[in-house]
Amino acid sequence: MKTIIEPFRIKSVEPLRRTTPEQRERLLVEAGYNLFQLHASDILLDLLTDSGTSAMSTGQWAAMMRGDESYAGSDSFYRLKAVVDDLTGFRHVIPTHQGRAAERILFSTMCKPGHVVPSNTHFDTTRANIEFNGAEAVDLPLPEAADTQARIPFKGNMDVAALQRLIENAGAARIPLVMITVTNNSGGGQPVSMANIEAVRAVTKRAGIPLYIDACRFAENAWFIRRDESGYGEMSPKQIAQKMFSLADGCTFSAKKDAFANIGGMLCTNDDRLAELETNLLILTEGFPTYGGLAGRDLDAIAVGLEEVLQPEYLEYRIASTAYLGRHIADHGVPIVEPPGGHAIYIDAGRMLPHIPREQFPGQALAVELYRHAGVRSVEIGSLMFGDKAHFELLRLAIPRRVYTQSHIDYLVEAILEVNERKDRIRGFRIESEPPMLRHFTARFKPVL
Ligand SMILES: Cc1ncc(COP(=O)(O)O)c(C=O)c1O
Repeated sequence: MKTIIEPFRIKSVEPLRRTTPEQRERLLVEAGYNLFQLHASDILLDLLTDSGTSAMSTGQWAAMMRGDESYAGSDSFYRLKAVVDDLTGFRHVIPTHQGRAAERILFSTMCKPGHVVPSNTHFDTTRANIEFNGAEAVDLPLPEAADTQARIPFKGNMDVAALQRLIENAGAARIPLVMITVTNNSGGGQPVSMANIEAVRAVTKRAGIPLYIDACRFAENAWFIRRDESGYGEMSPKQIAQKMFSLADGCTFSAKKDAFANIGGMLCTNDDRLAELETNLLILTEGFPTYGGLAGRDLDAIAVGLEEVLQPEYLEYRIASTAYLGRHIADHGVPIVEPPGGHAIYIDAGRMLPHIPREQFPGQALAVELYRHAGVRSVEIGSLMFGDKAHFELLRLAIPRRVYTQSHIDYLVEAILEVNERKDRIRGFRIESEPPMLRHFTARFKPVL
């Protein structure tokens, strides 16, 4: 059979609430045109993020009932550790309440003012945690990634020559670690090839710099390697993931993505001394090292999720359904970041709405219009979120895992194409009241007339 189907059936359903266009107009005004301020129950399809929004399986819910809530030495931790040991081979597994907690602990033990931390592209919490410790976060994407329309595989790769130059210029002593984010979320959800990880590994090894993987979407990345990189077609996603991890000295991980968990994270390392420092910090703010800010049942859900996510039929469906959305809108004239990535489709709002200048936030204008038209929530990734550091004006449609069906995606395609037909009439926004920090969460906007 050629049709790729959802490799699950639905046992428990959550009703969706429909709103009328008039209701949505009123809700938008009340929310100051900021979609973070809407009540989730007023949203039909919520594509704000793929993080923490997965549908858990019967296997995960059953495992949660086995959760051992002992303060120290919980069985749940040892079940998770066994899965992570097998998958990553890292000597130390430190659970945290989510990915950014792992980042905070990692960077506060490794980074000092004057340090530089390169990555293919840092995610925003990664960058913020590096900068909070006085170090500089440097993105080294491929030069080709600057063209959203270039259809090249493994567009999430790091520019290895640029990394080499950075090490020569800054000096290895100022670079406490190199990060590689798989898949490259801020770079359009694009995958990173094994060859690239190997090349980065070779450079960092020569310079004596540890390499860490930001592994949130390691399984989706493994699928792209299997599908598109020569020599991996016969390997299982798990074998590919094992090889990816074997090239690194440690990883940060948000279990809210590829572990299908609604909360959780991890920090792993092979460095005994660092692990001790990290564990001390963990105890300060997260909890005892065998629970790290999570309930025992959460650890069990993550352990099961880490095994489920590597099933080939799941990954095939996952990557195909994201590509289905991307192709159906791009082939009808909506510019997306090409080629479709793993967890999201990014519309190039700057290109789609050239009449809206970046100071009027084309991505935000498109997000508001999509909600107004069809009750769909998405998120601006551009000048609103990143200010002057924004490389593009994008709208991200993140696809929660195992949550929406093919007909939801068809509805979404229809909505986007209808909005595209009258794109010339979409207007930008000005910020009406700006909070001192994290303006994309709380700012209120005024439409430009
Ligand atoms: C690439 C990447 N790194 C780190 C994080 C942070 O993880 P968390 O949201 O669990 O703190 C995210 C979350 O979206 C991410 O996409």
